[in-house]
Amino acid sequence: MKLWSGRFAQETDPRVESFTESISFDVRLARHDVRGSQAHATMLAKVGLLTEQERDQIVNELNAILARIENGDLELSPSLEDVHMHIESALIEKLGDVGRKLHTGRSRNDQVATDMKLFTREAIEHIDRLLQDAQCALVDRTERDVDVILPGYTHLQRAMPVMAGHYWLAYCEKFQRDRDRLSDCLRRVNVSPLGCAALAGTSLPIDRDYTTELLGFSEPAANSLDVSSDRDYQIEFVSALALIATHLSGWAEEWILWFSTEFGFLKLPDAYTTGSSIMPQKRNPDVLELIRGKSARVMASVSQLLLLVKNLPMAYNRDLQEDKLALFDAYDTIAACLELVPDIISGAELQVDRIRERLDEGFLDATALMEYLIKRGVPMRSGHGIVGRLVAECEQRGCRLSDLTLAEFQAASDRVDETVFDVLGPDNAVAALQSYGSGGRAAVAEQTQRWKQQLSES
Ligand code: ARG
Repeated sequence: MKLWSGRFAQETDPRVESFTESISFDVRLARHDVRGSQAHATMLAKVGLLTEQERDQIVNELNAILARIENGDLELSPSLEDVHMHIESALIEKLGDVGRKLHTGRSRNDQVATDMKLFTREAIEHIDRLLQDAQCALVDRTERDVDVILPGYTHLQRAMPVMAGHYWLAYCEKFQRDRDRLSDCLRRVNVSPLGCAALAGTSLPIDRDYTTELLGFSEPAANSLDVSSDRDYQIEFVSALALIATHLSGWAEEWILWFSTEFGFLKLPDAYTTGSSIMPQKRNPDVLELIRGKSARVMASVSQLLLLVKNLPMAYNRDLQEDKLALFDAYDTIAACLELVPDIISGAELQVDRIRERLDEGFLDATALMEYLIKRGVPMRSGHGIVGRLVAECEQRGCRLSDLTLAEFQAASDRVDETVFDVLGPDNAVAALQSYGSGGRAAVAEQTQRWKQQLSES
């Protein structure tokens, strides 16, 4: 049943119906569509375009229709195009002329824009909660691994030692920036399109401030032409998701390496690994690989949305129907990844003995030695050269810096005395770190406290 067959002499070709339908994917907007319509009807009654009785009939029937959709009791058909038409025609079927009044002073263009904003607002809240769960798991690890020292890498080459907590909190920071980006995006999501109608607004006396308030938006959009086609906020949201995907993918890659025999830094919980169909000894990090792999979909969604809108003339064009596919997929993908992250983080076991055993490799204390020289008046560049030469010497002999004798150190620099041994070795090197934000014990303890406080408040 078409709701506006007036102008057309011919039935739509069934292939066109199935080509243009969106009900197969926008049915998930039903709850938001009903909420938007209920707010709209409530406003229409306030300004006298509906009676209170008509409003109540509409609001109640919309609840019943939503229940039918959620229970699978409303037949979905491509001939009714989208979720908006399904709900409106079900309403008209029940209420007749009263149902025919609901669409007064609005269009599907502002309706779908409103629904998508309500959807995105919830999605942001959901992702934010999942990120917070991941942060809590990270902070717990900081406390659990309070005495563990990790080799820090740059270029995947051993660089300087850090407290394990520093590593955990590094991801906490990344996830916090992700959360901050989402909450910034939320400010623009939270502007109401409802009442902008098709593109120009309406001559009817609607009250947009009232629907804004009823739907919990912060303000009504000030330009109907702009907002009916605005999808910027979706691109911002999906871009924020793509950044989360890069964080997750980098982390997954790192742990895939750490889980390898070559690194042996980490045991993943059995529940998050899989076997091989042919090699009986295998435990594969498939979940992490898929977190890395699925990130591609989220990044692709950003391009998909940018490409979708880039050539659109003002204002609504049907192309915009495709926005949902990219946004839903990016959201579902990140949510599915983030659901698993806290348990992977808490379930992973750092192979502390193996890590410890090899902390002496890679001259993690070389920078500490250079800074020891700097503190004793050696210019930084000269200190760098001196330590570089000592490292080369050790490499040749196959020993550690701490294996050199005092005489050998003094031959390299007359500023050295027996206190040099207090900065050598990974424990001393990490203990020497003291700047704000560093990987030293005190700085990490301070940041752990800050995170615990912050997470308990958010
Ligand atoms: N299904 C459409 C979409 O998702 C709803 C808006 C249709 N508007 C229109 N003028 N055809 O974008």
